[in-house]
Amino acid sequence: MSYETILVEQKGAVTLITLNRPKALNALNSQVLSELIDAFAAYEADASQLCAVITGSGDKAFAAGADIKEMSDKPSAEFYSEDFFAGWTAQIVKTTRKPWIAAVNGFALGGGCELAMMADFIIASENAKFGQPEIKLGVAPGMGGSQRLTRAVGKSKAMDMCLTGRMMDAAEAERSGLVSQVVPADQLLDVAMKSAQAIASMPPLAAMMNKEMVNIAFETTLDTGLVMERRMFQVLTATEDKAEGMAAFVEKRPGVWKGK
Ligand code: HXC
Repeated sequence: MSYETILVEQKGAVTLITLNRPKALNALNSQVLSELIDAFAAYEADASQLCAVITGSGDKAFAAGADIKEMSDKPSAEFYSEDFFAGWTAQIVKTTRKPWIAAVNGFALGGGCELAMMADFIIASENAKFGQPEIKLGVAPGMGGSQRLTRAVGKSKAMDMCLTGRMMDAAEAERSGLVSQVVPADQLLDVAMKSAQAIASMPPLAAMMNKEMVNIAFETTLDTGLVMERRMFQVLTATEDKAEGMAAFVEKRPGVWKGK
């Protein structure tokens, strides 16, 4: 599939996906969603690709939200009958079992903030700004903002952001645990790609199961999560990469992974 609204490049074992509607501050319309669904499916299916990074083109925005112009005349019945926005979680988050990172350059508002929070973690540039300003449009988050933001930063800040529509800068986002680190804007992509390359150099099954385990913490009780964690650990002990990893440690050499 050739893309018009995103760019996809393979850099070694890392897939770099760039939202590419800079004139609209990378607003997320239906075409962006369908192209992202395809790009994430291709990443997931390609055994040579072990981590992905998503970022925005231009220096102003990661994504300034769902495309307001696309939504402005859409009847409510269509939002419901199409289950508008359902594809983001159902066809990207749930189907991408390999790791991916959001590198947030500039505005991540509304759906842009929600897309960043779908990633396994966020690295932000110093000029990043996060917000859920949907209330100012007479609506509310529709792609997970009220749920993922609350889990990430807690009730008080999530309520503050959703009810006032104010933006959170990168320093506040780091203090609040929304992002894993903040870096100078001109280093953002480099840091995100190095982080992705580090993940891509890990045993792939262990990377996928580590991701799955952390995500389970959001979905279940502590007791059930601890049992599932132990089972996954026990499954990993049966892999060839576990034997290789432990042998490599003892022999003081880097491991060579098979993904088996
Ligand atoms: C469509 C958008 C857009 C968006 C910006 N643009 N955000 N187009 N959807 N979400 C377009 C503008 O119309 C403009 O194009 C161009 O991008 C540049 O934007 P400006 O507003 O001129 O830039 P600036 O003055 O620097 O302001 C930047 C900004 C502002 C603060 C980020 O653009 C802004 O507030 N955008 C909307 C943010 C927002 O509300 N996001 C949530 C969307 S709702 P033209 O062609 O006009 O020059 C959502 C889900 C809600 O995500 C669910 C509802 C059902």
